[in-house]
Amino acid sequence: MSIRIAPSILAADFANIQKEVEMLNASEADYIHVDIMDGVFVPNISFGFPVMEAIKKHAKKPLDVHLMIVNPDQYLEAFKKAGAETISVHYEACNHLHRTLQAIRQLGCKVGVALNPHTPVESLEDIIEEIDLVCVMSVNPGFGGQKFIGSTYSRVRKLKSIIDRKGVSTLIEIDGGVNQVNAPLLKEAGADILVAGNFVFSSEDPLHTIKNLKSLS
Ligand code: DX5
Ligand code: ZN
Repeated sequence: MSIRIAPSILAADFANIQKEVEMLNASEADYIHVDIMDGVFVPNISFGFPVMEAIKKHAKKPLDVHLMIVNPDQYLEAFKKAGAETISVHYEACNHLHRTLQAIRQLGCKVGVALNPHTPVESLEDIIEEIDLVCVMSVNPGFGGQKFIGSTYSRVRKLKSIIDRKGVSTLIEIDGGVNQVNAPLLKEAGADILVAGNFVFSSEDPLHTIKNLKSLS
């Protein structure tokens, strides 16, 4: 199966958000990745509900929402209402991860967990059955346009072997610094979904870039 692509709207032109979302609708992208940053969990603030609702209003692809926030439990319902299909919370932001994942499931959303680059993938071994998608951070969260961290390949291989051993169908998503060079290697290591922000939106022809990323890998 060809790899799925989730362009990160964080890298889009927010003054033309409707046009940007319509471009993604017309593309071969599988999801729209929505990065929510609170200025506490990460040293940056992105955007909140009004912007997300504006994206949802035009989007024909499912919203893959990546919460880089503390106390995510407090806002899960609001993100569901704002149009999230998948909600990923950070492992490092959840004291009671199992409870948080159950709450996401109960809302009817797909359940995601994001891991910072320093968090061992084995941390999810005992809870992997509850997770639809693991978002492996290949940069430190907080900013688009950063350099891809090379240790991601071995992390993906380890995670893939846990998933296979447990016989679950959890998807592996890679987030940060994805480009045409690392995409095929990530696919080979076991990735199912690639998030791409700047590589897509800074390119001359984003539609073509998305198509290429999909066929490259
Ligand atoms: C980083 C975000 C990423 C980012 C990806 O904190 O979670 O989703 O927007 O952007 P690029 O592909 O430019 O690294
Ligand atoms: Zn993200």
